[in-house]
Amino acid sequence: MTIQPASLRIAILGSGKGSNAQCIIEAVASGSLDAQVACVLSDVEHAGILDRARRHGIPAEYVSAAPYRTKLAGDAERAYVDALKRYGANVVCLAGFMRIIKHGLLSAFPDRVLNIHPALLPAFPGLDSWKQALAYGAKVTGCTVHFVDAGTDTGPVIVQRAVPVHDDDTPDSLHARIQVEEHKAYPEALRLLAADRLRLEGRRVRVLPAP
Ligand code: GRF
Repeated sequence: MTIQPASLRIAILGSGKGSNAQCIIEAVASGSLDAQVACVLSDVEHAGILDRARRHGIPAEYVSAAPYRTKLAGDAERAYVDALKRYGANVVCLAGFMRIIKHGLLSAFPDRVLNIHPALLPAFPGLDSWKQALAYGAKVTGCTVHFVDAGTDTGPVIVQRAVPVHDDDTPDSLHARIQVEEHKAYPEALRLLAADRLRLEGRRVRVLPAP
């Protein structure tokens, strides 16, 4: 007997404009990603990501993460976990969520918290990675979808897509080119997860062949 994995109920957490959230929502709506978007949560009350979700009829909530500025901890972390459970989420996608995720949320969703990072990790972790790539003089950068672990941008890599750096790039032009690839990478990673094709072996993610 084959045990079917539970279907994905995705929660998206973001602090910004939400273009990655939009791509995930559209992939679900078009049927190219076999999943549901359970909710979108933001720590920024008027973030564009909330408007985008509401336009698609997806529950969208501002959940305060105060008093902390850069992490999700304490009562705020509990409020996020409660909201995620209330919406029946079974996978959490960070998409421009500008906070460090701690043990409380990670242990509530073991190996089910994903992030997208605008560089080819382990190069250029942290903030403004496209500016880091330009300042370093890298010729190639890109984006990474990875499982989130207790470190910052250190979790096992699921999908990476490369992007050339052009001589005349500005931070904005490079970030825009990276985002084009992000919008393919996140749905691609979620399609693999939805099809139960990801196996975590130590810190390596093995991708099973398509059946
Ligand atoms: C993306 O570049 C992502 O890699 C980074 O934050 C940005 C979010 O963009 N973590 P958006 O809000 O999805 O447009």
